[in-house]
Amino acid sequence: MVRLSLAIALAVAVFGVSAAPTGSGKATVVSLPFSRAISSPNWKQAITADKSRASRFGGKSKTAELAVASSSVTAENVDFSYVASVKVGTQTFSLIVDTGSSNTWVGAGTKYVPGSTAKSTGDTVSVSYGSGSFSGKEYTDTVTLGTLVITGQSIGDATSATGFSGVDGIIGFGPTDLTEDTVSSTSEVPTIIDNAYSEGLISTKVLGVYFAPLSGSATTANNGELTFGGADSTKYTGSITYTPVTSTSPSSLYWGINISKIAYGTTSVSTASLPGIVDTGTTLIYLQTSTYTALYKNISGYKLDSTTGLVVIPSSSYSSLKNISFTIGGTAFTLTPAEYILPQAQVSAWGGTAGKYYSLIGDLGTETGLDFILGQKFLENYYSIFDTSNSRVGLATRA
Ligand SMILES: *[C@@H]1O[C@H](CO)[C@@H](O)[C@H](O)[C@H]1NC(C)=O
Ligand SMILES: *[C@@H]1O[C@H](CO)[C@@H](O)[C@H](O)[C@H]1NC(C)=O
Ligand SMILES: *[C@@H]1O[C@H](CO)[C@@H](O)[C@H](O)[C@H]1NC(C)=O
Repeated sequence: MVRLSLAIALAVAVFGVSAAPTGSGKATVVSLPFSRAISSPNWKQAITADKSRASRFGGKSKTAELAVASSSVTAENVDFSYVASVKVGTQTFSLIVDTGSSNTWVGAGTKYVPGSTAKSTGDTVSVSYGSGSFSGKEYTDTVTLGTLVITGQSIGDATSATGFSGVDGIIGFGPTDLTEDTVSSTSEVPTIIDNAYSEGLISTKVLGVYFAPLSGSATTANNGELTFGGADSTKYTGSITYTPVTSTSPSSLYWGINISKIAYGTTSVSTASLPGIVDTGTTLIYLQTSTYTALYKNISGYKLDSTTGLVVIPSSSYSSLKNISFTIGGTAFTLTPAEYILPQAQVSAWGGTAGKYYSLIGDLGTETGLDFILGQKFLENYYSIFDTSNSRVGLATRA
């Protein structure tokens, strides 16, 4: 099996290629510059962007798909995303790593200059993300992710983009169906993973995602890695739990899964199996209102903080906080208080008041068929695998 890894390295744009062992067989790990596109992080903005994005997930239907690309969309900054450096033609772009959308496009910041490998398809492209949108022209070009060189990749050249500052566009790792009706005169366009597979660069359509929490007061870090064609066994421990993509719409249109139980300590706060999605493009963790309320009922004195939009836990309750566990595919994936409460060292930098305990689990509202979103604050604690070939999601303990 050929596995290629793209290490999401940070901040300083030093292009590096390194090799690391990745389980069975020989694999190539490709290191690329990585950064979070933030200068002054702000939770309120992140939450607003997350919610706009969630409302698009929830409201998605075949007919609504393109209609949402209208002026009614709230444009928000997507500053909180994980960004990888991706080469298109000979230019290098900072692209948001997004498993919740599937088009790959550039030009929001650095303008695309079609070179000798670029071919115009003559088509137009338009996609709305809830938290932003873009429209422009569709090309095919060579996309390079370290040593992974994909030729003839369909890419968008944004002539207009809203809600994307500090980044150049998106590299889309969502299901191919999400590209439906985004490009004129084609029903769907093959994704990066589709082409890497059809060009024989990977032997299975699998994306492995490794993020790690920020340490200390850092707001950016050299701490992510994408693996193509398999999981990087150096980045997780124990076994991988796989769970099928849920059959419940609209979660089924994304990397949607069922959670069979959510528990606070040993108390179950969910009443049934819940469908929802795993999404690298969402910052926090969200639970639908009834689960959210059931969870926080157990934490006395919790309040929604209007400055940050996060839930604040009183210091009197902090020391008695319990683990929160999500049972997925029969395995409980636990977040400890240290993992779901914003570390004190990061509070001020992210727009909070020092000494307050902010929870990273927010209220999703009510959307039928979308009961949770496991965003970056979950994924920073677990290795995740997005397996198109077997229509399943894998999770394992992060190394
Ligand atoms: C997920 O849960 C729904 C009910 O919430 C159920 O119908 C479905 O069979 C479950 N499993 C999958 C893979 O969708
Ligand atoms: C904890 O949450 C569960 C589910 O909502 C509820 O039944 C229970 O009363 C709560 N416990 C406390 C101490 O609030
Ligand atoms: C909380 O979770 C951590 C990590 O999984 C585990 O080590 C710890 O024992 C758990 N605490 C309780 C009280 O279950």
